[in-house]
Amino acid sequence: MLSFKAHLQELSKPKEIGDFKKAVSKFNTVDVRDQSWSMTLPAAMKKYGFSLLGSGKYASVYGNPKYDYVLKVFMKDSAYLKWIEFVQKNKGNPYVPKVKGKVVKITPTFYAIRLEKLSKFTSGGQFMKDFSAWQKDNSFKSSDQNIQDILDYFGKHKKLLDLHGENMMMRGNQLVIIDPFYNWFGKYNPGKYTIDPDDINPEIF
Ligand SMILES: Nc1ncnc2c1ncn2[C@@H]1O[C@H](COP(=O)(O)OP(=O)(O)O)[C@@H](O)[C@H]1O
Ligand SMILES: [Mg+2]
Repeated sequence: MLSFKAHLQELSKPKEIGDFKKAVSKFNTVDVRDQSWSMTLPAAMKKYGFSLLGSGKYASVYGNPKYDYVLKVFMKDSAYLKWIEFVQKNKGNPYVPKVKGKVVKITPTFYAIRLEKLSKFTSGGQFMKDFSAWQKDNSFKSSDQNIQDILDYFGKHKKLLDLHGENMMMRGNQLVIIDPFYNWFGKYNPGKYTIDPDDINPEIF
């Protein structure tokens, strides 16, 4: 059995963080085709009562029923970090997620963030239909007020929108945009699927 002191030490500097750093040290570029890094997380997360809630190209998101926040671990997603900058400046905006604490840099390629726990957005199919109608004709109006609100809100940012059902969630009845932009792989290096972790498309906003 661990002594109380050893227990506190373990909690303040969990061994699992060092293990994760070691496991991902070979990732010097951002390459979303290689998702193997995410396999190093479930066992460590399970030890602390966290299980996988969802994942995408860049991230694995973990939750614990005891806590009202989730932990998102992600391969450096420059477009997402730009979005989080916007989120931090617009805390009163109900459409943006609430962030708990700061973005944590784990390695130059991997980051983590704590976010409020949100629930699934169930009108993804309807959204895609209305979104494509709106893209063809900006005067289109959705019958769903949440969807119309998003079309109004993002109408100004048409460039790199990655809006679909998995990048939107709900806080009660309030729609929340969790991950609206994508990185433009290949714009400067056509055909390439990797980027330097410091690359950002300057035209993103
Ligand atoms: N705040 C949250 N609460 C609950 N689940 C979430 C939250 N954020 C993300 N998720 C889940 O994780 C998935 C991936 O998160 P996302 O931010 O879209 O990352 P990616 O860049 O990998 O697409 C989402 O589609 C959703 O299922
Ligand atoms: Mg996503």
